[in-house]
Amino acid sequence: MRELKIFGILVFFTLLLYWGVEPYAHSKMEKHVAPADFKFSDLKAINYKGDPAKGKKLIVNAGCTGCHGIKAANMPAPMSKEAAAASFGVAPPDLSDAGAIYDPKFLKNFILNPAHAMLTAMKYNAKKPFPMPQFFGTGGDKNKEVSDIVAFLQSIAPKDLNDKETFEAACGRCHSVKYDKWYQIGQQPKLKTETEKLAFKLKVSKYLDHIKKYMGATPPDLSIMIRAKSKEELETFIDNPQKLLKNTSMPRVGLTKESTEKVISYLESVGDSKKAERESLIPKIIGFLIIFTLFAYLWKSKLWKEVH
Ligand code: HEC
Ligand code: HEC
Repeated sequence: MRELKIFGILVFFTLLLYWGVEPYAHSKMEKHVAPADFKFSDLKAINYKGDPAKGKKLIVNAGCTGCHGIKAANMPAPMSKEAAAASFGVAPPDLSDAGAIYDPKFLKNFILNPAHAMLTAMKYNAKKPFPMPQFFGTGGDKNKEVSDIVAFLQSIAPKDLNDKETFEAACGRCHSVKYDKWYQIGQQPKLKTETEKLAFKLKVSKYLDHIKKYMGATPPDLSIMIRAKSKEELETFIDNPQKLLKNTSMPRVGLTKESTEKVISYLESVGDSKKAERESLIPKIIGFLIIFTLFAYLWKSKLWKEVH
């Protein structure tokens, strides 16, 4: 009976450590910030029902397609990603998916004043303006016009983007995921010769030079970011980078909750592909330990009976 008591005490303290002390230490050591709410409550509400047909004309007249491709509307990118990075510091993303991944309130505010919506306005001024110009309207009410543009982007956006596509559209112009052969200039193709490999490397490295100069920091590779940060931390960071990293040049990109979850799920599948397997093992191991303890106890009782 004494052994059972000792065993019970052991179990008690292990569980206490696991569920009590460890999370408590975590919460003491980490900065306290409100979790992501995906509301963008600092931005103004613009509640017009946009007209996609008007938006389609506006997006061309406003000059958006001078910098952005929109493949879903048969508008190819006006220049290569490398050339675009040389001009703007980073390649303007293709806008085919924008209506699906970005929150509409964020998107309207972003088009009207990009750096303000991204929370990076402190880095820009008249001498060093944000590379995407503010939209002042093409003659009509700019709030109505921006609603038309967003309605158009929503009308062409695919409804079922997968995790990786969401990542590429939202983060892929700045971050690589080398474990999955994703680079800022695109998916690495099959490279046969040494010359091909070097040529690809050179393109990536030139792109990174431009982005570093533009952002003041090289965006880190995200292959194993999911091991350094918890899901919750990543969610909070994506929703508002400034909350966790004051004055960071990483922009608030304005993803919806659903798209944020897709991005994190992609990073999880690349950086921690064994997680599901590992978690399914836990109940099996606990089950094994219980049965093992039972048998050990029965065996011990039998031995002692023979001695007495
Ligand atoms: C002079 C070139 C230029 C023009 C014109 C331009 N953009 Fe951009 N746009 C950029 C660049 C560069 C970026 C990426 C900036 C960054 O990530 O720091 C960008 C980013 C974006 C994004 C991504 C926002 C996010 O949260 O990640 C959207 C959406 C967008 N632009 C829409 C538009 C629309 C709509 C128009 C027309 C009203 C437009 N752009 C006009 C250069 C341009
Ligand atoms: C316009 C470029 C740009 C885009 C788009 C962008 N990032 Fe970043 N990101 C950066 C830069 C630059 C840094 C480095 C910031 C620093 O050191 O202050 C960074 C840093 C990070 C970090 C590390 C933060 C830390 O604590 O060190 C994570 C995680 C991250 N980004 C995730 C994302 C995810 C996920 C997306 C897409 C939803 C994304 N980023 C989109 C530029 C970008």
